Amino acid sequence: MPVNTRRLSGTFIRGFCRVRVPCLCPPQPDGMMRHMSDRPRFLYVTCQVGAERAVKAEMARNLPIARPAYGRPGFLTFKLPETHFLPPAFDLHLVFARAVGFSLGGVTGSDYRELARKVWQMLGGRIVQRVHVWERDRAPPGEHNFEPGLTPLAADVARLLQEACPQPHMLSPQAADPAVPARRGDTVLDCILVEPNQWWVGFHQAHTIESRWCGGMLPLQMPAHAVSRAWLKMEEALRWSQLPIPPGARCAELGASPGGATQALLDRGLRVLGIDPAEMHPSVLAHPNFTHIRKRVQQVRRREFRKVRWLVCDMNVAPQYTLDAVEAIVTHPLVSVRGMLLTLKLFEWHLAEEVPQYIQRVRSWGYNIVRARQLQHNRQEICLAALQKPFVRKPPLLKDRRRVKRQHREAAQNPGVAPAKVAGSSEATQANSHES
Ligand SMILES: C[S@@+](CC[C@H](N)C(=O)[O-])C[C@H]1O[C@@H](n2cnc3c(N)ncnc32)[C@H](O)[C@@H]1O
Repeated sequence: MPVNTRRLSGTFIRGFCRVRVPCLCPPQPDGMMRHMSDRPRFLYVTCQVGAERAVKAEMARNLPIARPAYGRPGFLTFKLPETHFLPPAFDLHLVFARAVGFSLGGVTGSDYRELARKVWQMLGGRIVQRVHVWERDRAPPGEHNFEPGLTPLAADVARLLQEACPQPHMLSPQAADPAVPARRGDTVLDCILVEPNQWWVGFHQAHTIESRWCGGMLPLQMPAHAVSRAWLKMEEALRWSQLPIPPGARCAELGASPGGATQALLDRGLRVLGIDPAEMHPSVLAHPNFTHIRKRVQQVRRREFRKVRWLVCDMNVAPQYTLDAVEAIVTHPLVSVRGMLLTLKLFEWHLAEEVPQYIQRVRSWGYNIVRARQLQHNRQEICLAALQKPFVRKPPLLKDRRRVKRQHREAAQNPGVAPAKVAGSSEATQANSHES
């Protein structure tokens, strides 16, 4: 299927989908590779170990002109035809790719200073503002305690590259600091340590939020108070999605126990309704902005969600089950949810093929901006972010409008009496824990 740029693009939450993919269209004047010699013939992709097949399938769908060329677990290259017109800032909308860029080739050797010199040689005269260095994943996340992330070796190599830069004035002082994301529009030298002695060289132009992070990864540290690693997953999801959740907003979490993700939300000043039949950690339960409904989501009355504007979900169930549960909530006439972050567990890798249908299903509920990504802190699962923009609250039901009118009438007749609570008063907001 050819690339359908209209289907693949569109504006998303700040930082997403800014760039179209005109590979089969006439070249765009802005940012086009003008000289044949400037036009790299390969792309690289880094991903979670195990996701390679999913990446190849997505590439075949989204960029059929690219052909798989070289592969190691967690690292792939694709060959492009000579006549491609991919601009420097391209977005292929690959859910399973953690980082993507143009690939120039590999350098090998045991002398790191010599390797650093070769990297700059391979880059040619291209001007870059930033240097991103990261290691290919060694194992699937969680296996033998492996966690994808930025490593001390990568930090050392980044420093070496910065020192070896033939034109140091073009780099900013923080050019190789992974804690400082690249600026939009920066051209970034990418160096992937496929093996400690085999470095792969490429570049990309930073534009989407994830393309500004080194290897698509964040140097996040789990805070001491976090009760589960889901804190990292939620923090990354919030930073990646850039959902415009204001402090004080009401958020419901389906599958909240023991509470790491809830803590990331509470840390941002949100009010959280946690729904889970399992126990919450006592420190989460004690938080004044947290309310627990100790039930399965299917047993919770819809009116509990009346004031909820944001929904997150991390239930350890199949994606269809998650989507059924979420659909029953967000399409209910009493409920107006503006945005969501859903973790979809891919218990089998073949479920990766269903991801476009999952996205389509969420769109059909009225979310015009929907993106998905396998986050650095995701296991065999993906994060789906959805937003209604502009947000239109569903009108209150007729009986609610009548009740409000009656209350206003009564208040006018008895000016000294405090008015009763209007629509949306929920038992959940009055007690800090609901046992089923
Ligand atoms: C991966 S854990 C959630 C981790 C949690 N988000 C955290 O931050 O610590 C999955 C949770 O989903 C809950 N769960 C599974 N099915 C559920 C359902 N139908 N309704 C509510 N929770 C459910 C389980 O009880 C389990 O606690």
